Amino acid sequence: MILNKGLFLTFEGIDGSGKTMQLEMLTEDLRKANLKYLILREPGGTSISEQIRKVLLDRVNQEMIPETELLLFAAARAQLVQEVVKPALAAKSIVISDRFYDSTTAYQGFGRDMDVHFIQMLNTFATQGLQPDFTFYFDLSVETAIERLGKRTEKNDRIDLESKKFMEKTRQGYLSIAQKNPERIKVIDAERTPEEIFQDLKMELKQVIDLGG
Ligand code: TYD
Repeated sequence: MILNKGLFLTFEGIDGSGKTMQLEMLTEDLRKANLKYLILREPGGTSISEQIRKVLLDRVNQEMIPETELLLFAAARAQLVQEVVKPALAAKSIVISDRFYDSTTAYQGFGRDMDVHFIQMLNTFATQGLQPDFTFYFDLSVETAIERLGKRTEKNDRIDLESKKFMEKTRQGYLSIAQKNPERIKVIDAERTPEEIFQDLKMELKQVIDLGG
């Protein structure tokens, strides 16, 4: 268990993967275990990053070109890392972010066919080289994801409205990133019930956090 320094965890997956629900369940356990933690979501988490989030996700911004999108995600992240994540880790907090730079590699790199090598350099630049200690990637088929998303259509933002093909490329991107980073990225089968997925997540987390119980 890592206690004498901060711990940085990230949750990843395509839209509809259920990662946000898992994070909410985990937050409840962290609270009960009296651990010092901070939950963040990307893009967002600072005043400037939330303003960038609005521009990125607003359905009216249909004319946004991929390059602008990429740079805005990176900009929101740079602000978040320096203003919030690094100070929290320095104060020995557990920091968990709903999405981080793997989202950019998967969505903008693989999903939008932009240069993955360049994106990885941009990610390093934006985060000043900060890497998550562990990343949980919730994997499921695009069909199941679409079925789940269908149930929350009122919430769907500009990126949720993307085509099935885009989602498929993004998923393949995640799988490829996970394969290249087996030490950092834990793949969790998200095709199952929330309770089953949560048990898996807790098993994986046991090595790094003492949740008690
Ligand atoms: P959000 O409502 O937070 O979706 P979710 O609950 O699925 O995380 O919207 C974030 C959207 O932005 C989501 O479709 C994924 C996308 N995204 C990127 O394309 N690149 C990125 O770097 C990040 C952080 C998110």
